[in-house]
Amino acid sequence: MGGLFITFEGIEGSGKSTQARMLAEWLRANGYDVVLTKEPGGTELGEYVRQLLLSLQHHRMSERCELMLFLADRAQHVSELILPALHDGKVVICERFTDSTVAYQHYGLGLSLELIEELNNFVTHSLKPHITFLLDIEPSEGLKRLQHIKSSLDRIEMRSLEFHKKVRTGYLEIAKREPERFIVVNASLPPLELAKQIQERVSDILNKLDLARKH
Ligand code: TMP
Repeated sequence: MGGLFITFEGIEGSGKSTQARMLAEWLRANGYDVVLTKEPGGTELGEYVRQLLLSLQHHRMSERCELMLFLADRAQHVSELILPALHDGKVVICERFTDSTVAYQHYGLGLSLELIEELNNFVTHSLKPHITFLLDIEPSEGLKRLQHIKSSLDRIEMRSLEFHKKVRTGYLEIAKREPERFIVVNASLPPLELAKQIQERVSDILNKLDLARKH
């Protein structure tokens, strides 16, 4: 399969959206065909699932129901958008992917790691990102940033600082297990400085892959 699959991971307020957007703009300016997307909510069906997952109306949602909805969103996203784009040789940049489920639903909520890994493989047809940027930040700093950006928090953002600390620790453990895929960056850096670091790493990979450009 051609293409390049890049994911951004990290806790709330780590700046994933900003960095994903800046990387997409930089790659497009350099002639690459880029699909910028996110989970949950990267497809029309996924937008509905995202609303179900994040609405405060569903505060009684069970942990198992939550897991299944994230996976349903991903199954549709991979088959409808990500795999076709990679087959066309595009660069796919995705905010959150399988590692989010391991970090939030396993490390955060305590659901089985083996089960989550098996279901992740099932819904993604075992697709793995070529590279994953983990934007690491202190949970208290991330949540403070979030409160500046958003007027109200969603169902998962509302969870305790303790929960977000477990998610952060989980992410660092996942990254340690797969050092060849993960690049852990300091998300407290100024956004432009961080963007430059990310561009340099992506540049190295593109040089090795020799991916086609549109112009
Ligand atoms: P976002 O606000 O970064 O788009 O993500 C929505 C929320 O969903 C965020 O709090 C993280 C959470 N999430 C999970 O708990 N598990 C998952 O598998 C994914 C993709 C997101």
